[in-house]
Formats: sequence, structure tokens, C-alpha cells
Amino acid sequence: MPALVLLGAQWGDEGKGKATDLLGGSVDYVVRYQGGNNAGHTVVVGDQKYALHLLPSGILSPECTPVIGNGVVVDPSVLFSELNGLNERGVDTSKLLISGNAHIITPYNVTVDKVTERFLGKRKIGTTGRGIGPTYADKINRVGIRIQDLYDESILTQKVEAALDGKNQLLTKVFNRRAIEAGKVVEELLSYADRLKPYVADTVLVLNRALEDDKVVLFEGGQGTLLDIDHGTYPFVTSSNPTAGGACTGTGVGPTKISRVIGILKAYTTRVGSGPFPTELFDEDGEALRRIGGERGVTTGRDRRCGWFDAVIARYATRVNGLTDFFLTKLDVLTGWEQIPVCVAYEIDGKRVEELPYSQTDFHHAKPIYEILPGWSEDITSAKSFSDLPKNAQNYVKALEEMSGAPISAIGVGPGRDETIEINSFL
Ligand code: GDP
Ligand code: IMO
Ligand code: MG
Repeated sequence: MPALVLLGAQWGDEGKGKATDLLGGSVDYVVRYQGGNNAGHTVVVGDQKYALHLLPSGILSPECTPVIGNGVVVDPSVLFSELNGLNERGVDTSKLLISGNAHIITPYNVTVDKVTERFLGKRKIGTTGRGIGPTYADKINRVGIRIQDLYDESILTQKVEAALDGKNQLLTKVFNRRAIEAGKVVEELLSYADRLKPYVADTVLVLNRALEDDKVVLFEGGQGTLLDIDHGTYPFVTSSNPTAGGACTGTGVGPTKISRVIGILKAYTTRVGSGPFPTELFDEDGEALRRIGGERGVTTGRDRRCGWFDAVIARYATRVNGLTDFFLTKLDVLTGWEQIPVCVAYEIDGKRVEELPYSQTDFHHAKPIYEILPGWSEDITSAKSFSDLPKNAQNYVKALEEMSGAPISAIGVGPGRDETIEINSFL
């Protein structure tokens, strides 16, 4: 069993943290391949709840080596506070490995993220304000700072100066802000170097060697398919590739090594920030999903926008990721509705459309066409097998599976590790 990818099939917050943690005890490596501390992954172990932002969820499994791959953007101050928080709770974090090629979120990237959003006003993306977009922009513009740069002061200084030249023009002349001093930034970045050093590794080599030795490697996506910079609802997306291909570029492991791609799929839909969302609810059902599902951002504390399940999106996620399985989460949240609408297609300018339109204009015009499925009222949180579920819940799962294009191999019936129904083993 070589490498598996676990990723969000919708707009993020599908329950990736829980799913990764569930497998963490049986895999050798858990690797983040993109994104940064814009992610908020919740893991509940017994009566303990952890909110992880940058660290892979495998950090909570003692046997597992957590890895931050080259495709991730790292804010060192956030990394240290997350490590400190876990250490205080008795979690050993010493096995962590970080790619020397991962880019650093510098203080000026955070500043640019915030002022850009403010400048956009009504047209803002609704970013997490963590400097993610500007850091990836610097990477692509070839003025980024990498972890390895912290170990050559002269190179670091030149790079920070180069990055700030243009930005200071922008900050002072366009955004009416004070210029940022390169010297101060260099000083701050150098202060992280010693503490980071033991974690820095050639993670490409480590992971490929591990796979040659038949170790099991799990790639944990941040965000979700519809937030992908290439395949998501651009421009209302994040600035990286959460889709399956990102696992290869973000870690240096080739696609031939990946045997399984698991899409984490919420039994309804949520989204944070701006952008189109055809099944969004503005009524008491939306409010109830938010309340019962605890749909509030782990990173920003913002209320999540909520709506019914959208099978068009699930089919799209199957296609662009080559999904082999789904892990359906939060089925328990739907308990109590007499009838549950599921979006099976869109109506766009009077025509029925079965697949996600590639045109942004069409997607903005998409109205959901619903099929109404019968609900259930029995508590399902202690169900251990598929047959423990009430008939209507079974039928809901089967209907979603048929519409979505890949088998549902696990079902979440609560936030805890044990509150999971396993149908097909992932390993
Ligand atoms: P992630 O970003 O994909 O890791 O997801 P988040 O942690 O942001 O949001 C998912 C929320 O749902 C968290 O509060 C989880 O504890 C919770 N959760 C995950 N799976 C289930 C489930 O099957 N049922 C319920 N009720 N909660 C779940
Ligand atoms: P996890 O990993 C949900 C959203 C933001 C915003 C857009 C761009 O917990 O699923 P960014 O700061 O990335 O430039 O913001 O992407 N976003 C998320 N939404 N879950 C996340 O992560 C997200 N990470 C970013 O709300 O709309
Ligand atoms: Mg989240």
C-alpha cells in the first residue's frame, strides 16, 4: 500500500482533520502538501479537542511522522505557538519534518493580504488574512523567502530587500501605509532559524525512501476542491492546489505512487468567505445546519454559510481529483429533518445542466434543482455499521453515492474518533 491522498471535496471544513486523525495511527507519515495556517482542522480524541492550523493531523499519533512539504507556506511564529500549545498538552512534536523548500509567510505578506482585502472593499475575497495569497504570489514571482534561506544571512538579506523594493512602493504610494524596513524583517526571520533547524529536512528524499521501504504515506489536503486556484470558483479561491495533483507538486512524490484518493464530503454544504454557492440557505434550515453542525470557522471564528448537499459539486470533485472513495461526514447533523433536499442538477438560464459549468457567469446564474429525500429522526451517533443506520439514512447515503460517482467508504456520525462507520477499509 503506497501513498494515499485525503482532501476536501467541497469548499473546505468537510472534516479532513478527523478523517486524517482516524488513519494517523495506521500510517507512517502524514504530509501537508499545500496551504498554510489558513486551514483549521479539528480533531477530537476522547474528551480532548485540538484545533490544528499548520501541523498535519498525524501529529497526534505517536507512531506517525508529520511532514510539512515544499508546497506549504509556513508562518514560523504560528508554527511555534502551535508546537508550544501541543507540548503543553503533552503531545510529542519532535518527529516533525519541514521541507527546506517550503516558503515562509513573512510579516509583510500578512500586511499585504490585509490591506489588499481592505482595498477591494465589497469585492473582497474574504481571505483568512494570514498572508497566504501574497506569499504564493511572491513564490510565483520568484521573490519568495524559503526556509533554507534562514541559514544564509547574506542571501536572506538580498532576498528580503528584493521582495520589499516593489512592495514598499505599493504600500506607501497606493495603500498609504508606512514602508517596512528590510533589516527588521531579516532580524525577525533570523530569530526563528535555530529553533527551526532540527525540523528542516530534504523531505522529498525522506518520503520517496519511505515509499521504497513500503511505508504508508498519507497526504492531507487543506481547504477543498472548490477553493483550488485552478479548479475552484476563481477568483473566490485560495492560492494553492488542494486538488489531488497538488499532493505531487507539493511533496515531490510522483503520481505513480498514489494508489488512493479519498474525498472528504460533508452530508450538506458549507463555505466561508465570498463567492458563489448555489445551494446556500438564508432561512431557518440554514440557521439550523449552522447551529447543529457547529459551523463556525476554526481559524477566523466566522460563521460558515450553510446549504443543502450539492451532487453536481461532488461529481466534479470525483472528476478533477480522480477520487477512488468518499468519506461522508456529519450525517448525524441531518437527523431530525422530515425531508432533506439534495441538489441533483442546476438550472442555468432556463436549461437543465448536470455538470459544473466551466464559465463563472453560468455558475453565478446556477439555480439548484432539488430532489427531496425522506429524513430520519432516530439518533445515529452510536451507529457502528451501515445496517445500524435507520433505513432512510441508509437510503440518503446510497443516493449520494450514486449521484457522486465514487463509493462512500466511511461515514462520520459524530466528531469523535470512534464515531465513524467504516464500510471499506482505506488501508
Ligand atoms: P476540516 O477543516 O476539514 O478539518 O474541518 P473543520 O475541523 O474545520 O470542521 C469540521 C467540524 O466538524 C469539526 O468541528 C469536527 O470536529 C466536526 N466533525 C467532523 N466529522 C464529524 C461528524 O461526522 N459529525 C459531527 N457532528 N461533527 C463532525
Ligand atoms: P480548511 O483546511 C474553509 C477560504 C477563505 C477565503 C478563501 C481565500 O480548514 O478546510 P485564503 O486566506 O486562503 O487566501 O482565503 O479561502 N479558506 C477556507 N475556507 N476552510 C479552509 O481551510 C479555508 N482556507 C481558506 O475563507 O474564502
Ligand atoms: Mg477547517
